Amino acid sequence: MESLKDKIIIGRLPEHIAVIMDGNGRWAKQQGKMRVFGHQHGIQAVRDTAEACAELGVKYLTLYAFSTENWNRSSFEVDALMTLLANALRDELKTLNDNNIRLNAIGDLKRLPKPQYDSLMFAIDNTKNNNRMTLTLCLSYSGRWEITKMVRDIATQVKEGKINPNDVDEALITNHLATAGMPDPDILVRTSGEERISNYLLWQIAYSELYFTKKYWPDFGKEDLYEAIINYQNRERRFGKTSEQIKK
Ligand code: IPE
Ligand code: IPE
Ligand code: MG
Repeated sequence: MESLKDKIIIGRLPEHIAVIMDGNGRWAKQQGKMRVFGHQHGIQAVRDTAEACAELGVKYLTLYAFSTENWNRSSFEVDALMTLLANALRDELKTLNDNNIRLNAIGDLKRLPKPQYDSLMFAIDNTKNNNRMTLTLCLSYSGRWEITKMVRDIATQVKEGKINPNDVDEALITNHLATAGMPDPDILVRTSGEERISNYLLWQIAYSELYFTKKYWPDFGKEDLYEAIINYQNRERRFGKTSEQIKK
């Protein structure tokens, strides 16, 4: 079968792809199964997407795995998601290292149960020298949580006399976010047909290209990722300029 991969212009790859992995519950319901069944099958889509990105040469892949709002789901579902996280951290560590992928995590991580928090820190430390791609898991994450924390941190440093209020600019704010040091996402992909941001990377997606697909996350595979990248490569990013200025 011909792969869409051949249609990707490698010289114009997005450097950073952000994904809202959505639709696990509906995927499961469609086949008369419990929501958790969908989450279990979502892991394979994570593997495929991470592998496809690393193979292509994408430098940053950032996945929305669990939002601050997701804590409001039933304790049964939250517990199941935490168990899946623990298992994935245990089972995928070798693959991350074999593929030279650095694991990173952002969010209110202290809210994670201790075993998950500890496994996460271990995996991050264990992969810290890998440099092919950075895979960031957003866990107990939300854009407003991150912005609130950033304001608090900057305010504290102003109070301590370490920052002059006049020095607060876009670069300083960017450097105080959980994503400090990472480029902004070039493309934001959301699966499941929902067309909303759900409190994701609010500051960072200011100029990201948005891509929505109806596929549920467990059905998302490499070809779907290639399709998203090709769609992205056919867009013109103007950053406020005119088309004529861009083409010069
Ligand atoms: C995404 O799938 C996974 C998480 C938010 C943890 P959902 O669980 O939101 O699935 P739907 O949207 O209900 O189908
Ligand atoms: C967003 O999906 C969060 C994650 C994918 C982790 P949700 O399913 O929680 O979003 P809403 O509630 O439908 O907006
Ligand atoms: Mg959802």
